[in-house]
Amino acid sequence: MTYKVEMKNITKIFGSLVANDQVTLQVKPGEIHALLGENGAGKSTLMSILFGLYQAEEGEILIEGKPVSIQNPNDANRLGIGMVHQHFKLVDTFSVLDNIILGAEETKNGIIQYDHAIEKLNHLISTYKLNVDINAYVKNITVGQQQRVEILKMLYRDANILIFDEPTAVLTPQEIHELMNIMRGFAKEGKTIIVITHKLNEIKAVADVCTVLRRGKKIGTVDVDKTSIEELAEMMVGREVSFLVEKEDIKRGEPIFTVDKLNVGGRGKHSVKDVSFEVHRGEILGIAGIDGNGQTEMVHAITGLIPITSGSVKIQGSDITHSSIRKKYERGMSHIPEDRQKHGVIMDFDLQSNLILQNFYQKRFQKHSFLKFDVIKKHADLIIDRFDIRSERGPKTILRQMSGGNQQKAILGREISREHEMLIAVQPTRGLDVGAIEYIHKQLIDERIHQKAILLVSLELDEVMNLSDRILVMYEGEIVGEFDPKKTTMNELGLYMSGAKREK
Ligand SMILES: Nc1ncnc2c1ncn2[C@@H]1O[C@H](COP(=O)(O)OP(=O)(O)OP(=O)(O)O)[C@@H](O)[C@H]1O
Ligand SMILES: [Mg+2]
Repeated sequence: MTYKVEMKNITKIFGSLVANDQVTLQVKPGEIHALLGENGAGKSTLMSILFGLYQAEEGEILIEGKPVSIQNPNDANRLGIGMVHQHFKLVDTFSVLDNIILGAEETKNGIIQYDHAIEKLNHLISTYKLNVDINAYVKNITVGQQQRVEILKMLYRDANILIFDEPTAVLTPQEIHELMNIMRGFAKEGKTIIVITHKLNEIKAVADVCTVLRRGKKIGTVDVDKTSIEELAEMMVGREVSFLVEKEDIKRGEPIFTVDKLNVGGRGKHSVKDVSFEVHRGEILGIAGIDGNGQTEMVHAITGLIPITSGSVKIQGSDITHSSIRKKYERGMSHIPEDRQKHGVIMDFDLQSNLILQNFYQKRFQKHSFLKFDVIKKHADLIIDRFDIRSERGPKTILRQMSGGNQQKAILGREISREHEMLIAVQPTRGLDVGAIEYIHKQLIDERIHQKAILLVSLELDEVMNLSDRILVMYEGEIVGEFDPKKTTMNELGLYMSGAKREK
């Protein structure tokens, strides 16, 4: 039988790091093939080689049995290969239409022929139910819609080998459901799909086969039907993984973080209305809600990223409503932001500098305005070791060159090991592998044991249910209910999250 895609003995080396070590991947036509592996295992690298972004040091690529040379994404496009990247690559200030035709414009006498393009696009949109306004600017549409633009971009170029790099990490449960249906539709039509995901239940739901990578090496390819979630997890991390969070009862202490009648302006759903709550020492307060119901704005306002319209925020009794961000951190706040690349790190700084972003001015890191690099490196080494942050050059690695999951671990490590009294964790496990999630959950539980106050904002209802001591549901900018996770169900929370029910 001829494979649609065959990558044979691919080796890719970055400096001293072997990102892909003799990896072979065989994908049949019309198959949905999952690619699974820990953070930094080499998944994105392997797919970037197939898409022509990187060149392999060794190995061979065959498409429909014929050896091909893929030097750049244009070569990949010609071979029918398209890719939706882990972090989207759209031009914010262009319209959807212009983004899609960018680089594939049809021109006549130097003028772009829009009519033809619009006709083709509308056809694709209705065939695959990829609803999006083609005249809207990319900066004004949601992340879920941006992903549809990326998918349309592949289809517009007539791709029939579709690569998805962690497509569901940024989607809501509803959008995930829709995407799965879209993928099934593609496969039914004979398109071949390779999908990278950390979510084992998604693999179970859509994939036919799954190839597992660990530390750059291929561990094996299995039939998804015949393999349990536990077996997949074990193949991936090389040990058994516990999916249950063990949490002992802790006596909660006094409230140390208080938000009172917080209002934040904004349009409709994007505003925050009269939100009040307290987080106690030794408590994890979970905020549940569907994406876009004011959670992001609430956290941005509390942490100082956008202005507060009215209300107050206090930490350990002192009012920080209008304090500078530095003051907020000094008063004991830590923050794992939702958008790690925008608000969590500086992509072109190295890891050790990123680990002192809020503390560089302190005496222990500088003397007479000169940074003490030996101390900074030692500080980084400790965090790297404790949080198992993997990268090629340790403290000196530029953040941009680290895998997505390891960037996230770096932020977590920094925020948890800083001196702090309360931690705001927004989507702390987004994009992490199951082993890392297990670890991060343990760290959050540990924070609780150490009598910190934790505010957990997550779109993963499982996560909120498993970790929280108390849950507040947010809907259209308001808190619509308070729940004890031991006494509620996913269904009940779902009703409040969708606005079908609310407490008086
Ligand atoms: N351009 C680069 N320069 C140097 N090292 C790199 C580069 N790109 C990736 N790496 C390294 O190669 C390894 C594999 O990275 P890759 O992004 O393929 O991992 P991944 O399996 O996609 O992980 P994740 O699940 O976290 O996205 C990582 O250790 C990463 O730091
Ligand atoms: Mg990746």
